Amino acid sequence: MTAPSRSTIPTLEDLEAQVGDLAGKRVLVRTDFNVPLDESGAIADDFRIRAALPTINWLTERGATVVTASHLGRPKGAPDPKYSMDPVRQRLGELAPGVELLENLRFDPGETADDPAFVARLVDGIDAYVNDAFGASHRAHASIVGPPRFVPSAMGRLLQKEVDVLLGLRDKPRRPFVAVLGGAKISDKLGVVEALLGVVDSIVIGGAMCFTFFAAQGKPIGDSLFEPDMVDTCGRLLAQAREQGKVIHLPDDITGVDASGTYATFGDRLPDGAKGFDIGPGSAAAFSDVIMDARMVFWNGPMGMFEDDRFASGTHTVAQAMADTKAFTVVGGGDSAAALAQFRLDDEVDHVSTGGGASLELLENGDLPGLQALRGDFRDEDA
Ligand code: 3PG
Ligand code: MG
Repeated sequence: MTAPSRSTIPTLEDLEAQVGDLAGKRVLVRTDFNVPLDESGAIADDFRIRAALPTINWLTERGATVVTASHLGRPKGAPDPKYSMDPVRQRLGELAPGVELLENLRFDPGETADDPAFVARLVDGIDAYVNDAFGASHRAHASIVGPPRFVPSAMGRLLQKEVDVLLGLRDKPRRPFVAVLGGAKISDKLGVVEALLGVVDSIVIGGAMCFTFFAAQGKPIGDSLFEPDMVDTCGRLLAQAREQGKVIHLPDDITGVDASGTYATFGDRLPDGAKGFDIGPGSAAAFSDVIMDARMVFWNGPMGMFEDDRFASGTHTVAQAMADTKAFTVVGGGDSAAALAQFRLDDEVDHVSTGGGASLELLENGDLPGLQALRGDFRDEDA
């Protein structure tokens, strides 16, 4: 993909210049209100709703009628009460009275299929479109890539801020630039590991994804979670890092449970039947040193199963280092943002992104389908 330029994406001011007086205009705002829900179906964290307010308020202050639209969860193209937007609509009503919210976009199969008929329904009666759904802008879905083909369109304030910060990491790195990656699913992240090797000075790897790297190094991992299909790729990435003079830091101790299910700490070779659930204290201290010495840090993915107190300390130590370091700190998305909030450190980093997958893809590719659409150069074959 060619290097995008944020400056070619219309802003809200550009939209106003194009459309003229916004008073009385109906503006469709694609937001990412895909919020975490607790067991009772209540909103566990309204961060993504609050993050859309600057754009919504800018529009309502100008007299526009704001119609927001979002997906919630992954319903399968049909209404599913579990994913009703009602709790979000209620919270939005408290934060931004009078703003409409359409039903879950993914209740219609046309959303994920980018069906032209669904796009036509979305823009029916709409005068302008604003994409403020950074967290969903890596999806070439109808509500993300469709409307700019038909109505004057712009990026909202949140999308603008996210793109500025994340492309800033990519294009103007301060060194040492360290990426800290964790979480369980390595297949989502190998592309970004490879892309980041070209940008960062070192990559710190924790979370269950470290076991696939251990396997690539021939270390025994007991019964820990790993992705057998990805072992070769991890081996290749370790070799590639060595060739490029980059460092991949892997944990050298692990906490988890032994074959009898008892809490235990291991080195980097796990005995039969053992399961690793967190980086150990030595690794947490070492990772924390790397973060303290950096000038720029991007963190995505927890270091362990932090929802369980016994396995929260690796993630907590890394979160604390993110808060304490003088480096410019960016935290990408879902679980790591939730971890920061759990440790009450979310105000202590420079930027908490509302997008997990989207921030990784933007760092990896330097562009997203949603941004291409706003520039008028999204083509289906890019998706
Ligand atoms: C997210 O939560 O990562 C975004 O809302 C995108 O959701 P998705 O991964 O279900 O497309
Ligand atoms: Mg996601």
